[in-house]
Amino acid sequence: MNVLDRHPRSRRQDKSDESRPMSEHLNSRQTAGANIATPMNYDADVAAYELATKHRYQNPSFAERYLDGYAGGLKLSTFASHVIARREQNCIAKALKTCSPLPAQVLDIPCGTGKLADVLSRHDCQVMAADISMEMMALAKTAYEGRPGFRGFIRCDVTQLPLADESFDTVICLRLIHLIPPHLRRKIINELARVTSRRLIVSYGLASRFQRIRLRLRRMITGRVSAPHPVNFNVAREDFSEAGLKLVSSFSILPLLSCEQVFVLEKVRP
Ligand SMILES: C[S@@+](CC[C@H](N)C(=O)[O-])C[C@H]1O[C@@H](n2cnc3c(N)ncnc32)[C@H](O)[C@@H]1O
Repeated sequence: MNVLDRHPRSRRQDKSDESRPMSEHLNSRQTAGANIATPMNYDADVAAYELATKHRYQNPSFAERYLDGYAGGLKLSTFASHVIARREQNCIAKALKTCSPLPAQVLDIPCGTGKLADVLSRHDCQVMAADISMEMMALAKTAYEGRPGFRGFIRCDVTQLPLADESFDTVICLRLIHLIPPHLRRKIINELARVTSRRLIVSYGLASRFQRIRLRLRRMITGRVSAPHPVNFNVAREDFSEAGLKLVSSFSILPLLSCEQVFVLEKVRP
């Protein structure tokens, strides 16, 4: 049975409740006048990741908004998401075409709402899709199910994959690493490298001086932080060599207008 078939409505509601910040669970009498101290081991990066990346997507209305952002009706407010998503799909399609031998067993993690289903179905390969969010995967069902080669969904945490070493020949990780704080980034790259036997296709937010200024301006104007953890190219390269991966090619999603870069990496065999 597909894991998503075991996803009753009531559990979804519980989850969305869980994902609210702790402060929202307290009523005003519990908080009024209380001196709430920051815990001694508080780490803002960890807290932001837990709330904004890990939990935020585990909410049905957030998941619907995410999908609508790039696949719904074209509006001024969703124009950028539409363009970026098309570019991401094209870059992954191009990256797959450069692979030799062509991918046969692919893991799409995090699959989100199934942005890559169409691209992957054009290849003669088997695909597993994984994400921590049942709510995102519930929407990915429409995109993925019925596609030839689709093998199902797994709910898992990318920091600790319940998968054997080298379970897939190709792992694709799109639009996650730029959301990941430094203390977890390398752990995730190592974990993705562990479960692939041949290659990893991963996107990073790359922080050139120009991109840092652009991101800061964007934040000032829109109040939004689109790439909280961009890194310098050298840092990305260190991640790759630490994980035993060598850089084969790279694709810029939208030169100048986006800091997102897709890297095709191959496992270095001793
Ligand atoms: C920006 S979305 C990208 C999804 C998809 N790759 C795309 O490009 O549309 C980030 C995704 O990462 C997932 N995610 C966040 N933290 C995760 C974790 N620790 N393990 C697995 N998935 C995670 C979220 O649930 C969400 O679906």
